[in-house]
Amino acid sequence: MILGSTGSIGTQALDVIRSHRDEFQVVALSAGSNQELLGRQASEFGVAPERARCAGEDPRILEEFASLDDVDVVLNAVVGFAGLPATVATLRAGKRLALANKESLIAGGPVVAKVRDSGGGEIVPVDSEHSAVYQCLRSGTTSEVSKIVLTASGGPFRGRSREDLAGVTITEALNHPTWSMGPKITIDSSTLINKGLEVIEAHELFGVSYDQIEVVVHPQSIIHSMVEFQDGATIAQLSMPDMRLPIGLALGAPERLDQAFGSLDWASLSELTFMEPDRDAFPALDLAYAAGRAGGSAPATLSGANEVAVEAFLNARIPWISITDIVAEVLNLGTGNISEVEDVLEADRVARERVERVLQNSF
Ligand SMILES: NC(=O)c1ccc[n+]([C@@H]2O[C@H](COP(=O)([O-])OP(=O)(O)OC[C@H]3O[C@@H](n4cnc5c(N)ncnc54)[C@H](OP(=O)(O)O)[C@@H]3O)[C@@H](O)[C@H]2O)c1
Repeated sequence: MILGSTGSIGTQALDVIRSHRDEFQVVALSAGSNQELLGRQASEFGVAPERARCAGEDPRILEEFASLDDVDVVLNAVVGFAGLPATVATLRAGKRLALANKESLIAGGPVVAKVRDSGGGEIVPVDSEHSAVYQCLRSGTTSEVSKIVLTASGGPFRGRSREDLAGVTITEALNHPTWSMGPKITIDSSTLINKGLEVIEAHELFGVSYDQIEVVVHPQSIIHSMVEFQDGATIAQLSMPDMRLPIGLALGAPERLDQAFGSLDWASLSELTFMEPDRDAFPALDLAYAAGRAGGSAPATLSGANEVAVEAFLNARIPWISITDIVAEVLNLGTGNISEVEDVLEADRVARERVERVLQNSF
């Protein structure tokens, strides 16, 4: 089942399934509001009309679909906090969650972990970096991990100073150099908060401390992440930057797809380069580390505030540079604890309300 089937990840997942019809059957689909594409997808993949629905009309369908008896794997490719109920419902039902919707894990970390442990479900990551780590971990155990190294392309503004970034446009920010993705994650990549969210995601998924998670800029996006083990061995996962590989693995794991979506041409790959992220030009990375280390509702506040700030930027209400400033301001107002889903919902609500207040007072 694919939640968010009309988006960038959702359509690529259907592409994977299109070429592996014997292995996967689609039994339900959801979109936000794009009924037209959803209808075409349902008819191509033989999904009954009552199982192809828009969550914009009724958000409860996400939980309802995730709990269907004939579903083995739920691909959560919804964007943003709206994906949380499906993440929780899937794990509660003891199913496999192929997780692209990082926001639900970041906002609800401790709650999601509790439901996963008690419900018997499993999370297989779709994010290319976490899929890479998942693959690297086949070479050793989590207790043997010395550190996880998440790679970052650096986004469209790599190499620019904070001053240079004051007047960047929406079009420039949406122009990612190596990946073609939905608008929210593309803007998140431009501020580097996406990498910060992935640091929190790695902590939640693999149970490693924040001191053991490092970020390195790797502009070619060929190495998708690495794991260094305690004996000094570093295992990396390399492939073309194509999300269909991690999507296919998350759907069929532990087996791999029998077909590659592009392979590396070593002769033309002239160089793989690495550099430190520029933490002054892109303060969102350290903001996310701080929120992750603070725990409680701080990650939910970070993620919720960012979602509203990104939307405000995409609606031309604020300049790009203010996205991170607003998230920092909202985090500075303080955060609390989280033990139940209701606490996560409340933290998200408060974060959004605070951003709206900043927007009304300052822009
Ligand atoms: N794209 C990538 O390469 C990539 C890589 C790694 C991780 N991710 C993560 O994967 C998730 C999806 O990203 P994306 O790039 O595929 O986003 P996207 O292209 O914007 O697609 C989002 C999907 O969610 C649906 N949706 C939007 N609002 C919704 C709501 N309130 N309730 C239910 N469904 C809603 C959309 O439906 P409509 O089409 O009807 O609006 C669409 O199907 C994000 O969490 C992102 O961080 C993406």
